[in-house]
Amino acid sequence: MPTPFVKIVEVGPRDGLQNEPFPVAVQTKVELINRLSATGLKSIESGSFVSPKWIPQMAGTSEVLRLIDHKHGTSYPVLVPNMKGLEGLEVLLRENPRQPVSEEIAIFTAASETFNKRNINCTIAESLDRFVPVVERAIELGLRVRGYVSTAVVCPYEGYIEPEKVRDVTIKLLEMGCYEVSLGDTIGAATPRTMERLLDVVMAAVPIEMLAAHNHDTYAMAIANVLTALKMGIRTVDSSVAGLGGCPFAPGATGNVATEDLVYALREEGYETGVDLNKLSTTGQWISSILGRDNGSRVGKAWLAR
Ligand code: HMG
Ligand code: MG
Repeated sequence: MPTPFVKIVEVGPRDGLQNEPFPVAVQTKVELINRLSATGLKSIESGSFVSPKWIPQMAGTSEVLRLIDHKHGTSYPVLVPNMKGLEGLEVLLRENPRQPVSEEIAIFTAASETFNKRNINCTIAESLDRFVPVVERAIELGLRVRGYVSTAVVCPYEGYIEPEKVRDVTIKLLEMGCYEVSLGDTIGAATPRTMERLLDVVMAAVPIEMLAAHNHDTYAMAIANVLTALKMGIRTVDSSVAGLGGCPFAPGATGNVATEDLVYALREEGYETGVDLNKLSTTGQWISSILGRDNGSRVGKAWLAR
């Protein structure tokens, strides 16, 4: 039997750096993304076209996209919350149509009204209405569109979220034209049982190939949750080098499952990822020292100490 392949979406330069207390220099972001692409990762979320008043850490995304080495076959998605964000990306696309910029955007909403209001200042229904012209225009521009549903298991303000709510938002995003929806355990409070319950309900309505798992690791459950998702057939997983990150509107939440931890778990469990764990661990240690924080990947530290 061929080894099953799991696609990793590296979100460290976006989900990770958006949560740092101080904005990170453009040059550092560029070096991080280039180092990550050298590890074999094929999808690297590289920034956000959001309001700099809301998330100052993501200012400079245009400059980052201009300066990174665009590796053939690697995608550099960016978050876009509205038409203004897409217009920001369009400026770049027009600058030099032959120069690669970004092949993909991600739109993002939630299954909890309170979280959505705090994150993007509108109701879930308003956000979905707002995305319709964004997705239409993005597809016209030749971009692929990914969707996120945050608070897919637990909301920091409303508590446990019924999977049916997640299913309904997921369906709307796919109907709009998203090729995939990533289910966000924004505060890392899911467990294998609640993860399974979520996926049971969503998978009954949506093809599993159109779903991805986006697990934060606040309660150290992320690897267990991801392995549960893989057993249920998920083959796309988001993660963040050195476990960087969190969400500024989810107090106390830590970063995503560390990419190093994920790559190690997958390889030991018999999945192929195409990612070089040596280069990845070195990159995780490098960015942790630049940011002056402890490396959030247990595997990364152990791997380098061997
Ligand atoms: P708003 O204040 O309601 O927007 O924010 P507005 O339309 O009323 O405009 C207010 C001002 O913002 C105006 O400027 C606009 O031009 C400007 P002013 O006239 O006052 O000078 N503006 C923008 N500027 C730059 N880029 C834009 C943009 N749009 C408006 N795109 C908005 C609404 C959505 C813009 C705001 O709430 C926002 O930017 N939020 C960002 C939230 C965010 O990035 N959160 C983190 C990412 S989501 C996440 O981490 C979860 C995820 O990882 C999955 C998971 O873990 O669950 C994906
Ligand atoms: Mg996240």
